[in-house]
Amino acid sequence: MPSAMGNVIAAGPYRNRIQPPSMIVDAIDAKPGMTVIEIGCGSGLYTVAVAKAILPDGVVYAVDIQERMLDKLRNRMEAEGVENITPILADAEGHIPLDDSVADAIFSVTVLPEIPDPVKTLIQIKRLLTTNGVYADAELLLDPDFPLRRTIIKWAEKAGLVKLRAIGNRFRYVLVFKKK
Ligand SMILES: C[S@@+](CC[C@H](N)C(=O)[O-])C[C@H]1O[C@@H](n2cnc3c(N)ncnc32)[C@H](O)[C@@H]1O
Repeated sequence: MPSAMGNVIAAGPYRNRIQPPSMIVDAIDAKPGMTVIEIGCGSGLYTVAVAKAILPDGVVYAVDIQERMLDKLRNRMEAEGVENITPILADAEGHIPLDDSVADAIFSVTVLPEIPDPVKTLIQIKRLLTTNGVYADAELLLDPDFPLRRTIIKWAEKAGLVKLRAIGNRFRYVLVFKKK
């Protein structure tokens, strides 16, 4: 998705209704002190909501492949007075520059289908999760790349993740995984 679309997708009033940030906060059971990674943070609608939920001492590492998206995230952080987010410019299909087993939770919202080899990204996600960490992936039918739930589950299983639960319905869902 081009960065020029970043505000459109994140700020549209429909987004807060049909893919509300609380959906991710709940799916990863966000709690104060957690270390969380977001893959493909875009302009940061979900990043900031999770960052607020893990205050006072939690941190979010927000990964995106586009510097312009990270600039939009920085603008949102400033506007909302949120400081516990570290933006990281990286291709999530390659090496994400964070230590193994660093994250209590990782999430992505309408990102995986944009990545040419999503299984490579899911292998990175598995590397970054703690033993009991969870990964939540949210998808929405309005996304032109929308994948069926079984497609995401198949990719995740190839990477060594197993489904814990599914939230929502087949048109708007969050799938939660853990390490096998
Ligand atoms: C559809 S947007 C979703 C943004 C945000 N998650 C949201 O829902 O508002 C997809 C985002 O994934 C990022 N992205 C795509 N491929 C990526 C990759 N290989 N590594 C990291 N980020 C990527 C894009 O730059 C874009 O910001």
